[in-house]
Parts: sequence; C-alpha cells; structure tokens
Amino acid sequence: MTARYEGEAFKERFGPWAVVAGGSDGIGAAFARELAGRGVNVAAIARRKEPLAALCRGLRTDYGVEARGIQADLTGDDLLREVGAATDDLDVGLFVYNAGASSRSEEFLQAGPEYALSMMNLNCRGPIVLSHHFGQRLTKRGRGGLLFMSSLACLAGCHYQAIYSATKSFDTILAEGLWHELTPMGVDVLGVLAGATRTESVLHTSDNFKDAMDPAEVASGALDHLGCGPNWVPGETNQAVARGTWPVPRVALINGMSQATAALFDLEHKAVEGQEFHE
Ligand SMILES: NC(=O)c1ccc[n+]([C@@H]2O[C@H](COP(=O)([O-])OP(=O)(O)OC[C@H]3O[C@@H](n4cnc5c(N)ncnc54)[C@H](OP(=O)(O)O)[C@@H]3O)[C@@H](O)[C@H]2O)c1
Repeated sequence: MTARYEGEAFKERFGPWAVVAGGSDGIGAAFARELAGRGVNVAAIARRKEPLAALCRGLRTDYGVEARGIQADLTGDDLLREVGAATDDLDVGLFVYNAGASSRSEEFLQAGPEYALSMMNLNCRGPIVLSHHFGQRLTKRGRGGLLFMSSLACLAGCHYQAIYSATKSFDTILAEGLWHELTPMGVDVLGVLAGATRTESVLHTSDNFKDAMDPAEVASGALDHLGCGPNWVPGETNQAVARGTWPVPRVALINGMSQATAALFDLEHKAVEGQEFHE
C-alpha cells in the first residue's frame, strides 16, 4: 500500500504539531515517535508526569522536533479547558485520540458501575469533547486529520468486555460519521480497529499479548492510511475477521445511510469517496 501523504506532503497536511491523547506509552508513544520521525512536533497528553517527560526528551534528542507534555486526565471534568490552555498557541494539524485500552476482563455485574462509567468517559466523552474542539480548528484551517483508536472488539458485544466493546463501537461509528462530514472540508478522519497489540496496558492482563502485534507497526500503518478513511484494520488476520463480519462495504454503507438520513430530514447529501479497511 502506498501512503496517501508522504514526506513534505505529510508535514504540510498534518504538521507542524500533532496532539496525541494518551501519548506517553504503548500505541500512543509509538504514534508520537512515528510522527516525530516524519518531522512533526508532538504534544502528548497523559496523567503521569515522568513517562511524559521521558517521551518528550527522547523525541527532542532522537528526532530534533519540539515536544510538549500535557498532564491531564482524559476522564476529567476540566478536560477541554486544560487541553485548550495547553495547545491553543500551537498550529495543530493532527489530533489522535489514542487512550482507551481495557485493563480488566470481568462480567458487567461483577463490578460496580463506576468502572463502566469511567470507561465511557475515556472512550466516549473524551473523544466527543476533543474531536469537537480540534475538528473546529482543523476545518477552519482547511486541512488536517482526526484519528480515533478503536478495536476489533467493536465488531460485536463481547462477554467479559461488554462495556469496552460497546465504547469501541461508539468510537468506530463516530469516526465513520465524522469522516463523511469532514472529508469535504479538508479533514481526513480515520478510525483504526486494532487487534491484540503488545503494550504495557494489556501485557499485565495476560501473557497471551506477548506474541501480539508491535505498537510501532500499528501506529505507522495508521498514519500511512490517513486520507484513506473511513477506517483501517492493522494485520491480515484481523482484516480477515473484519471482512467476514462486515460483508457490506463500509464506504457504500456510510454513504447510503447518510443519504437516507438527509432525505428523511430534507437535507443536502453529497457522496464521499473513500477506501475500504483492507485496501
Ligand atoms: N493493546 C491492545 O491490545 C489494543 C487492542 C485493540 C485496540 N487497542 C486500542 O489502542 C489504544 C491504545 O491502547 P494501549 O494498549 O496503547 O494502551 P492505553 O492504556 O489505551 O494507552 C496508554 C496511554 O494512554 C494514557 N492514558 C490512559 N488513560 C488515560 C487517562 N484517563 N487520561 C490521560 N491519559 C491516559 C497513558 O498514560 P497515563 O497512564 O500516564 O495516563 C498512556 O500514555 C486504545 O484506544 C485501545 O482501545 C489496543
């Protein structure tokens, strides 16, 4: 697959700054390093100060880019104000909502509703608040990207992961709708349905993640697919699973649903061209 934007074209469209929500560790840190390797400055959001500081030092010395660590909780009430205050002075070309892995496997009724509600804040409220904020800035600029990390778990409700799979389904569907709305305004939207990936957040939950995909492979493939939305699935086995579950091509389905919705409310509809997740 040839990336839609490479070299200077990538920097011009998605630079000079990218913001990565959940960017100090795992796939988020891999996004930060991949972006720095492409010459884009990175502002990374996470809760813990030291991993953020270490990441930023590494980005500056290894890649010669500017880096900013933003200490904030993506589930916090003050999220918009904190992230706005820390990034309003930056010319942001790409926003990645990365954080959101599930650290527990248990049945819905085994735990109180608090864990489920905090996952809803992290995987639904956070993406809404920040993609609305950066979406407005990017459409005003007329070029850029919004990338949402989702999961193959979104393909169906899952026993032991009922809340996680439901919130990831929200992320996938939100990305698809925004892809249709924002593509004509110069903003590339991509939802990434990752399968098992070797990160600190999940390695402590099961030894089976030791043989999973490399976070760098997921992050670089996702960046290569910016402009090829609405969604991308990393890894051939994962793609085969998604293809079996989604027999109707997503681009046609999103256009069809958007057209039917527009007709119902007497609104305008224009079809958007896109690429299927396995292309
Ligand atoms: N790993 C997998 O197997 C896998 C599979 C499918 C999909 N995915 C998806 O890929 C994405 C990344 O997953 P990941 O495994 O790399 O781990 P992750 O736990 O989602 O991300 C880790 C990063 O997010 C930050 N973070 C976590 N919660 C935060 C919060 N409330 N506020 C601010 N920052 C927060 C962490 O730093 P702090 O802890 O310091 O805050 C760290 O920088 C997720 O959306 C996940 O659903 C992962």
